Amino acid sequence: MLAAYAAGQDADHPLEGLVVGEITDPGPPEPGWVPVRVRAAALNHHDLWSLRGVGLPADRLPMVLGCDAAGVDDQGRDVVVHAVVASPGWRGDETLDPARTLLSEKYPGTLAETVWVPPGNVVPKPPELTWAEAACLPTAYLTAYRLLFHAADLRPGRRVLVQGAGGGVSTAAVVLGRAAGLEVWVCGRDEARNQRALELGAHAVFPSGARLPAQVDAVLETVGEATWAHSLRAVRPGGTIAVAGATSGAMPPADLGRVFFRSVQVAGSTMGTVEELSRLVAFLVASGARPLVDEVLPFADAARAFRRLLDGDVFGKLVLELPEA
Ligand SMILES: NC(=O)c1ccc[n+]([C@@H]2O[C@H](COP(=O)([O-])OP(=O)(O)OC[C@H]3O[C@@H](n4cnc5c(N)ncnc54)[C@H](OP(=O)(O)O)[C@@H]3O)[C@@H](O)[C@H]2O)c1
Repeated sequence: MLAAYAAGQDADHPLEGLVVGEITDPGPPEPGWVPVRVRAAALNHHDLWSLRGVGLPADRLPMVLGCDAAGVDDQGRDVVVHAVVASPGWRGDETLDPARTLLSEKYPGTLAETVWVPPGNVVPKPPELTWAEAACLPTAYLTAYRLLFHAADLRPGRRVLVQGAGGGVSTAAVVLGRAAGLEVWVCGRDEARNQRALELGAHAVFPSGARLPAQVDAVLETVGEATWAHSLRAVRPGGTIAVAGATSGAMPPADLGRVFFRSVQVAGSTMGTVEELSRLVAFLVASGARPLVDEVLPFADAARAFRRLLDGDVFGKLVLELPEA
């Protein structure tokens, strides 16, 4: 089958190990898993980490990349794939399972004509969402949904700062936060990208690190070292910094004085549950909000899509589409 997979890893030149080509369909990796014929698959920064050798041990190569897909299951149903795979017998919130894994970490991922998943790892794709829109949900949109409404526990009328303007999680947070009645502020590195965040629905935008006119109830942090100190200054006493990533580095000075003296909550969060994925889908249908897709490319152009993601030349999500079987 056609797939985009990691055949090698290089911390500095991650695209060196990327192959877009034929690979044998592995069949069900575990008994009872079901195939989903992929119609659209979105890229994530996670795929670049895998190609850099972060989170994917070299002895698992070659590994089909990708956490996100929408497609057709073996019953002919249109579905969105849930990328968090819990260990057998795990009950409850699968993101808290210490042995949980994401598709493309232990089991082949979604950037392929077929992905195999546990039978509970799909939710119905509503007809209101296009294939490309549905493919954006499992990682960036689910992560932003859980950051906003679980980790930061935000309610309509609250003010949230999103660090980063055009990333997958950042744009998802703007779309979902705006639709949920939050006051959404964005800090980005580039004036033109900040303008696009305004057009997307942010109420106000500021240069990265800028002094803000007021403090915020919560900060959504996926940038890490480059923005952490600013996030600590931006959040109000008793507010929350909800953290799901560290693109620019994971070891900033913690500044614990600010954390305890101002009773700041630091809430880590990873992906979301399959139930939250269902609620996210329902929220989009009910609100009319839709994922921001930067570009939909044919699967054969996957290498170009990866290049754009690596260059930071993306505003929203990149989606690869496959023809109907
Ligand atoms: N824990 C989880 O479940 C989870 C889920 C999804 C993602 N993540 C992590 O979250 C991070 C973002 O993922 P993504 O897919 O949204 O990535 P992405 O689409 O590549 O976006 C990267 C974002 O980081 C910002 N950025 C990068 N370097 C920066 C710097 N030096 N200063 C300020 N902003 C900077 C960019 O801001 P501009 O647009 O302003 O350039 C952009 O918004 C990644 O590290 C990823 O691994 C974690």
